[in-house]
Parts: sequence; structure tokens; C-alpha cells
Amino acid sequence: TFVIGENCIKCKYTDCVEVCPVDCFYEGPNFLVIHPDECIDCALCEPECPANAIFSEDEVPDDQQEYIELNAELAEVWPNITEKKDPLPDAEEWDGKKGKLDLLER
Ligand code: F3S
Repeated sequence: TFVIGENCIKCKYTDCVEVCPVDCFYEGPNFLVIHPDECIDCALCEPECPANAIFSEDEVPDDQQEYIELNAELAEVWPNITEKKDPLPDAEEWDGKKGKLDLLER
């Protein structure tokens, strides 16, 4: 399965959802997650993210391991998203910033 990591927070470019053949993305206020039971490991979304926030589960950086569980948890409660929308207004500014987990809105 693929996992969305920290750099999506406060960016949410949504390019990823356009290419997903199984529509397994779920949307929160300032972050997206992938449903681990629905993802078919096609890998199409990974190169689409301008923020490089998507990882194969076995390539999630050590300091972002908690995002594996976070994707699974939030995919159960957030609504499905299947169409691209505008990124968050300050996406460029937040792209690459560290320590964004505290800013995650649920
Ligand atoms: Fe997030 Fe990248 Fe998708 S910033 S919404 S994972 S395109």
C-alpha cells in the first residue's frame, strides 16, 4: 500500500486523486490519506505529488512511520475525494516545512 506523509499537511495539492484507479483517497481539512485496504499498489500517485509526500509503505522515512497508522485511521472517518481541487492557499509556503504534524486538522 501507499502512504501519504507529512509534507501533504497544509499543502494538499490533490494531483494524486486524479490518477487513482480505485479512488482510495480520503480528505481532511488540510491533509489527504490513502485507505490501506483499498490501495492496489499501482504506484501511479507517487510521482504525481508536487510535494513528494507519497511513499510506498516500505519506503516511508523512519521519522514518518506514524503516518502509516494515521492513514489507516483517518481513511475510516474522512470523506472520499476523487477530483482534483485547488491546493490550500499557502501550499507553496508550507511545502518542505518540517514538524507539520502538530498542524494536522481532523
Ligand atoms: Fe497531498 Fe501530494 Fe496529494 S500534497 S493531496 S499527497 S498531491
